[in-house]
Amino acid sequence: MPAFDLIIRNGRLATASDSYVADIGIRDGRIVAIGEALAGAEEVIDATGKLVLPGGIDSHVHISQPSGPGIVMADDFESATRAAAFGGNSTVMPYCLQQKGQSLRAALSDYHALALGNCHVDHSFHLIVSDPTESVLGQELPALFADGYTSFKVFMTYEGMALDDYEMLSVLEVAREAGALVQIHAENYDAIRFLTDRLERAGKTAPHFHGRSRPIPVEREATHRAISLAELIDVPIMIVHVSNREAMEEIRRAQARGLKVMGETCPQYLVLTEADMERTGMEGAKYVCSPPPRDLASQQACWEGLQQGVFSVFSSDHCPFRYEDEAGKLAPKGRSSFRWVPNGIPGIETRLPILFSEGVVKGRISLERFVALTATNHARIYGLPNKGSIAVGYDADIAIWDPELKRPIRQADLHHGVDYTPYEDLEITGWPVSLLVRGRLVVRDGMLSDTTKLGRHLQRTRPLV
Ligand code: URP
Ligand code: ZN
Ligand code: ZN
Repeated sequence: MPAFDLIIRNGRLATASDSYVADIGIRDGRIVAIGEALAGAEEVIDATGKLVLPGGIDSHVHISQPSGPGIVMADDFESATRAAAFGGNSTVMPYCLQQKGQSLRAALSDYHALALGNCHVDHSFHLIVSDPTESVLGQELPALFADGYTSFKVFMTYEGMALDDYEMLSVLEVAREAGALVQIHAENYDAIRFLTDRLERAGKTAPHFHGRSRPIPVEREATHRAISLAELIDVPIMIVHVSNREAMEEIRRAQARGLKVMGETCPQYLVLTEADMERTGMEGAKYVCSPPPRDLASQQACWEGLQQGVFSVFSSDHCPFRYEDEAGKLAPKGRSSFRWVPNGIPGIETRLPILFSEGVVKGRISLERFVALTATNHARIYGLPNKGSIAVGYDADIAIWDPELKRPIRQADLHHGVDYTPYEDLEITGWPVSLLVRGRLVVRDGMLSDTTKLGRHLQRTRPLV
């Protein structure tokens, strides 16, 4: 019997700390050897001239999430995880949204039913707590933590989702007791409502006024407040989808004071600006997300946050709505005001190529930092053992990249369920070409090679923060 099921030969391996040329031996879905001239496998993939990286972990994606009356997300678990696989990701972390009045367990069982048997890659849910009742705080959250759901997201904005400060403190207190990590969407709900009302009264209702309704101070203030609330409870937090310097500097200051405050940014804050929302007619709706894309100085600040370690994770915030669709960006109410345009843009397949091309190829970040920001740190921070790196004993979650392949992002080439990409025509150098999930070749040379959808749900351990 051969020693290995598969050998990946002669590629340049990269981890969060090193890169070097070696062979990888895989057996029963795990990496069992890393060395020179490994031999004895059922199959050998020649990776000469290629990069062999840990499969990406995208720890911020929305899939099949209820999004308001008449609005439907464009991806189900099959299409989202297919797109994730083509984008070099072996694990995604979608949200399980608790609707008002609903128990978290009931919400979870709905999401598990949607995911079961439909995932090309592995997945693990974060819980969105929108209704922190006594039973949610006292019983459900601690019990779910014990079952491996070790991170919760809370919102400081959005109708029906925003928690007030008392509720935020209550969730943070439970997280501290359990050892869970709380992700925070930091934008001031009342300020946004106030500004939205004023803009609408002035007849300023086109999609680009979305940006004017949530300017930087709205995000900066909420970031500062979230950090202060976490400091009161003495609990780690992750501020998600940070879009600008002022919010980034709040996080940096907190870190300098020794607080366990982490930050995440996303592709939209590196390559889009508010000018994208100013396109004619309803076209701007394609770029409406929260926080909104800002300006070139904000992009530069987000790069600094990635380079200097203020941000420890880079995620997509994939939140897919079709454009030519009344259940998506062209919802009838959305034409009357930006207030009703569904918030969110797709990005699960383009996250890694954008950071690789704009970051590694253009010399802004090292290959090792790329690996840390897109895989290793996600695994550590969210408690995914044996994921996010290339090491003996780890799951054989591996993306093989062609670092020379030049091709623009084109909707026609993508695999998500959305009918557009906000990154159309962005020139990319370096694309993932093959992907293994626990040793299974899901994508081979740009083709879906395994349709079994054997992606698993992953129980998580205590976050390492
Ligand atoms: O606009 C966005 N980001 N939509 C997704 C939901 C969220 O806030 O993460
Ligand atoms: Zn959010
Ligand atoms: Zn999100």
